[in-house]
This record gives sequence, C-alpha cells and structure tokens, in this order.
Amino acid sequence: MHSTTTKSQRSRGVIERYHEFLPVSPATPIISLGEGNTPLIYSPRLSDRVGSGCEVFVKNEGVNPTGSFKDRGMTVAVSNAMERGTTALICASTGNTSASAAAYAARAGISCAVILPAGKIAMGKLLQAFAYGAKIVAIDGNFDDALRIVRELGETGDFAIVNSINLDRIAGQKTAAFEIVDELGDAPDFHLLPVGNAGNITACWAGYRVYQEHGRSTKLPTMIGFQALGAAPIFYDRIIDNPETIASAIRIGNPASWKQARAAVVESRGAIDIVSDEDILAAQRWLAQHEGIFVEPASAASIAGLLKCCDSGDAAYSFKQISADSRIVCTVTGHGLKDPDVVTRKELKPIAATVTEVRRAMKL
Ligand code: F0G
Repeated sequence: MHSTTTKSQRSRGVIERYHEFLPVSPATPIISLGEGNTPLIYSPRLSDRVGSGCEVFVKNEGVNPTGSFKDRGMTVAVSNAMERGTTALICASTGNTSASAAAYAARAGISCAVILPAGKIAMGKLLQAFAYGAKIVAIDGNFDDALRIVRELGETGDFAIVNSINLDRIAGQKTAAFEIVDELGDAPDFHLLPVGNAGNITACWAGYRVYQEHGRSTKLPTMIGFQALGAAPIFYDRIIDNPETIASAIRIGNPASWKQARAAVVESRGAIDIVSDEDILAAQRWLAQHEGIFVEPASAASIAGLLKCCDSGDAAYSFKQISADSRIVCTVTGHGLKDPDVVTRKELKPIAATVTEVRRAMKL
C-alpha cells in the first residue's frame, strides 16, 4: 500500500488508519484527502438535558474534507475503483455524495457524473460539484428517481457507482464507529443519527459489531435513527412517493439500505423515529448558538431526536428511564455552510462609520 508523506493522524485518512478492517489490499492505490479523525465533542448542555449523570458527545462529521461523512466511504470506493481500472464514477445524490464523489474523482484524475434532483440540492453542495469539475445532470424527479437511473447506467459497466449500494462505501463509513470506540475506550450506550438512504446507520452498526468481534469493545450501542416527518418511509413502513422536508439531504422516499437499517435497530433494540422540520431547524439553531457547532438541517435531526427522546411522550425510544451514567453519541453529518439558505438572517442596514454610531447600533 502506498503511504503518504505526512504521518499525522489527520493526514493519514481512514484507509491508512483502519486498513486491517477494510476491503483493501497492499496493492490498492489509496485515494485520500485526509478524511476521518473528526472531533467527538462533549456537550455539557445536552448532557444536562438528559440528566442522570449521562454524557452526550457530538461526532462532528462536517469537518471532513468535503464537509460531510460521505468522504469516509468515498475514499474506499474510489481507491478500489482505481485498482480495478475505472475511468468514470457515477452517483445519484441529494448533494453530499455528489460533492464527495466529485472531489475524490478529481484527486484520482478520473471523471465523475452526478445525477441530481433539479432544484433540491443545497447551494453549497451544488457549488462543490461545479468546483470539483463534475459532469452535473439535473433531472425532473427526486433522489429515488436519480438512483434508479444510476443503477441502470451502472449495469453497462461504463461507470463505477459510488452510492452506498456500493459496499465499499458502507465499509469505509464503519470507521466512524471505530473512531468513537477508540476515543471513548468502549462503545457508547446509544448512538443517534439522521437517516436518509440508510447507509450510515447500517455502516455504523456494522462497525460496532466488527470492533466487538475483535475485542476492541465490550458492548454494542442501541442505534436510534431519525427521519424527517415528511420523508419517513422506514418509520411508516411504506415507500413515500413525494418525500418533502427542509432537510434536503434526507429527502428520500425509498431508501436503498432500508432492510439493513431495520435489522440494525432490531438487533440493537433501538428505534427509527421522526422529527418535524420545525424541530430540525430549532435544533440546528440551538446547536450553533449553544455549542458553536454549525450543521446542515439533516444533521440536526439527531439533535432534534435526542431532545425528543428526553422530552416527548411520543418518542419511539424514551430517555425518561435511561440508566444512570449512560454515554450517548449524536452524529452530525454535514457542515452548516453547505445550506446557507435555511439560516434566518435579518437585513443589515449600514450605519455611519463612527464609534458613536456603532455603539448605538450595538445598544451599549
Ligand atoms: N445527513 C446528511 C448531511 C446526508 O447528506 C445524508 C445522506 C444523510 C444524513 C443520511 O445518510 O443516506 O446514509 O442514511 N445523503 C445522501 C447524499 C443521500 O446523496 O448525499 P444515509
């Protein structure tokens, strides 16, 4: 396996750190942008909300190279595609997969086509796809339509599909669970995360299992996934034809890893629950203004979900009887700057450039 010249943990990327647990060989060319090793931030205020001496940690995946957790799986998928001699990648996306695929394709020196639902991609993510030089195709349809088309195009053998139906993506995303266990010294008691196409909950659960089998942890967490109220096929147990939510990243009506996500919650005795757009946006604001962590709306679903587990009688999983001193991890999946349009702003009227006027404007 090639090694990079810098050896700091950050620059090493997930393949170098975790190759023994990943589907790579010494012959695999590593295409990495230094993904992974993201902060696991202790949140005293969220811990207080849960009570009973519980500790809440926020795994901030928004600080990956392209601003989302997708980079963990993309490095494995693109490295293996390069080993097989692939010259073109293709994916369907609600925005983050396409940004990640475009970046890793650029790094590998191959082309990348991204199929996107027109008008439904957050501005920052679309800009990323343009910036990294992807071929962008907008369709008059939703993510589920885009994935159907990609599956068909992938069958021709002209492209490597880098959606999470590519098992290398799932394998790479397991590393988030590895990092959490490595840092906490054992698995947490609960892991909360947003669910869209359901690859991430599948991957994290698989990662915890692998680590336990290898004696790296003594227990497995309870997995709790959150879908947006208007895009909740797993929660309602039916395909949603026209999913709608402000959290465009998880606007998905027929998730590819539906069965695996179900299995993860059944095996871990967890749950899939729903959170409203209002609660998602409130959680996004709360996390930015109380913890200094600015995430995109889909990511805030795990925080909105945590608050629901604490406060609501309707929660699919209630924390009211939670065991004392439990440790809870909430994954936040993507950076807030990806979706600037959802942030509430007020118009800024310039004032005279004097100290007096500035003091008055600050109401000091
Ligand atoms: N959070 C963000 C920011 C996402 O971009 C996604 C998925 C999810 C959560 C849900 O993860 O699909 O593994 O359940 N985004 C995909 C995309 C669908 O195309 O970027 P999942």
